[in-house]
Amino acid sequence: MTTASTSLAFGIDIGGSGIKGAPVALATGELTAKRKRIKTPKKSTPTAVAAVVAELVDSFDVPASVPIGLTFPAPIKHGVVPFIANLDKSWKGVDVPQLMSEAVGRQVIGVNDADAAGVAEAVYGAARGVEGVVLVLTLGTGIGSAILVDGKLVPNTELGHLEIDGYNAESRAASSVKDREGLSYEEWAARLQRYLETVSMLFSPDLIVLGGGISKDSDKFLPLLDIPVPVVPAALLNQAGIVGAAVLAADRYH
Ligand code: BGC
Repeated sequence: MTTASTSLAFGIDIGGSGIKGAPVALATGELTAKRKRIKTPKKSTPTAVAAVVAELVDSFDVPASVPIGLTFPAPIKHGVVPFIANLDKSWKGVDVPQLMSEAVGRQVIGVNDADAAGVAEAVYGAARGVEGVVLVLTLGTGIGSAILVDGKLVPNTELGHLEIDGYNAESRAASSVKDREGLSYEEWAARLQRYLETVSMLFSPDLIVLGGGISKDSDKFLPLLDIPVPVVPAALLNQAGIVGAAVLAADRYH
């Protein structure tokens, strides 16, 4: 299980629509100041996004002793983005911690957004103390996945890109698709059902945690699902990315 050994860290969550940041108290996983959100630049190139990250950190006046962790909506393998679905394609091959450390003027760690959410749920939230295999799935612009085995993360799984019925799964079942296609909860839940039954069959998880912005409305769609595994909403809702990035930053640098 991941543990934190400093009292405060700063988490930043880069998403397809917004870039959000806040300081996090590591003892509780709570934000110690109101989260700030800046719109993701329309042309979401590395330079444009790095400028927003620097603006965000500057606006909080984060002391140099506070570690900074940043989530990214793509796998980050040893710092580098191997492919990207939902931001500018020029991110491919970029070393995210290096770029962001230069932009901010200090060490920044980078982690996949769903992996960060998974760590946060394992340390403070719905997957805390759960043994066995936990699948944390974030439903937003795309679908992110984190697999935890006895609380330990298996990084960079990309289960949003499973091909199901001939489709890239996130192009059918992400919550952005519900908005874009104007689907009712019933219509969207039917797609989510198909997705969750497939991942359940493939991974035999003990628990599935659903995160992302839509997790706050889970009462509208969880009752419509019939999956042979407990499915619960993320306890940290869509703050899990910020919190998980902060935990991982503290682990790395303290
Ligand atoms: C990306 C993942 C990411 C997910 C959620 C997917 O398109 O490939 O890395 O976790 O979107 O942002």
